[in-house]
Amino acid sequence: MAKKSSKSKGASAKAAEEHEVAETVQKTGDASNSEEIDKAFEEAMKDGAGESAKSGSGDEDGDEDVEIDVSAAIQASGGHLDLDKVTVKDIPGVGPSIAKKLAESGFSSIRAIATLPPKMLMQESGIGEKTADKIIKAAQEICKMEFVTADVVFEKRKNLGKIVTGSNALNEILGGGIETGAITELVGEFRTGKTQIAHQCCINVQLPVDQGGLSGKALYVDTEGTFRPERLAKMAMAKGMDVKEALKNVIYARAYNSEHQINILRQARKLIETQNVKLIVVDSLISHFRSEYFGLGALGPRQQLLNMHIHQIQQLCDTYMVAAIVTNQVQAKPDIFFGNPTIPAGGNIVAHGSTYRVFMRKGKGETRVAKIIDAPGLPEAEAVFKITEKGIEDAET
Ligand SMILES: Nc1ncnc2c1ncn2[C@@H]1O[C@H](COP(=O)(O)OP(=O)(O)OP(=O)(O)O)[C@@H](O)[C@H]1O
Ligand SMILES: [Mg+2]
Repeated sequence: MAKKSSKSKGASAKAAEEHEVAETVQKTGDASNSEEIDKAFEEAMKDGAGESAKSGSGDEDGDEDVEIDVSAAIQASGGHLDLDKVTVKDIPGVGPSIAKKLAESGFSSIRAIATLPPKMLMQESGIGEKTADKIIKAAQEICKMEFVTADVVFEKRKNLGKIVTGSNALNEILGGGIETGAITELVGEFRTGKTQIAHQCCINVQLPVDQGGLSGKALYVDTEGTFRPERLAKMAMAKGMDVKEALKNVIYARAYNSEHQINILRQARKLIETQNVKLIVVDSLISHFRSEYFGLGALGPRQQLLNMHIHQIQQLCDTYMVAAIVTNQVQAKPDIFFGNPTIPAGGNIVAHGSTYRVFMRKGKGETRVAKIIDAPGLPEAEAVFKITEKGIEDAET
């Protein structure tokens, strides 16, 4: 049976929704292929089933009549709003009750609000739909989200920060390293090196820019209990770093279930703003979702919540230009007899949610093979690297 996926949803509405989703899936016929099931549920969600979970009651907070006068705010500040200093409280029309709700749910930055879908702002802060819409529009106005030409985007992308992985071959197929502002998904069977790369990047992100880092900290969300500070220490030592300092720069959180995982990411916003976090690791992205939501009736709610979670991560990447590494498992593909019999878990939701998808497999001995399987602008290239006592290295050194 599916878990409760939304605070605002009544039990009967939820039961009806599950029934509706299950029916939709049954209508699609053969449900033996999990990929197909995932797809069918996603379709069902798009068609409106489950919508009740996403939308709030609208006027429950009594803030519906809020009028937000952006030009007054800009004028009041002399025409130059410093986005790093201004908060939602500074927008005329945002009264104390809304400001409190926003602050309590971690939304103090206008930049963060400007990039949120209204439904997410509603869900996370508990404010009504119209108010959420108005606040986001006001924030967008202040941030001046305009059309730009490709050359501007080109210049911006040239300056995108990258975190080196430890292997030049792997950096090269990634276009320089783990990119900021994007989700890089490492997917593969057990012991293929996903956690090792994540650990290595937590060390490398601390390096100065000219050494392939971002002079920043890492936030490590561990869902499987495989985080090892002693491994980080060895990797830091191999780079001649101050080990104690290096460990202090990795902020760790153990997520005990999917709701906890989502909550940690909600709190991440404040940490990123105050602690110079440049890398978020979620290892693994979907293990809790997979174990908690099983059976046909649970797939729809699972995918819906997972979708929200991935957007949560993407939104942090977009807003604060941090990099995200998420790890993912593989699942058996029953209809494949030749070639790779496994596919990434999580269906289309994860496939569409991650920007770069790297498939990893074991090579000879300590070597591993990484292949870019889905990346905007990058070819489907392969790189061989190895995992040693020092960390991630090129296979031929
Ligand atoms: N100190 C070390 N020295 C050399 N190799 C190591 C060391 N620590 C780990 N490894 C290698 O890394 C492998 C484990 O990789 P990792 O934990 O990253 O796998 P994973 O892809 O995250 O697997 P899972 O899906 O089980 O989480 C080990 O099997 C070993 O080959
Ligand atoms: Mg692992």
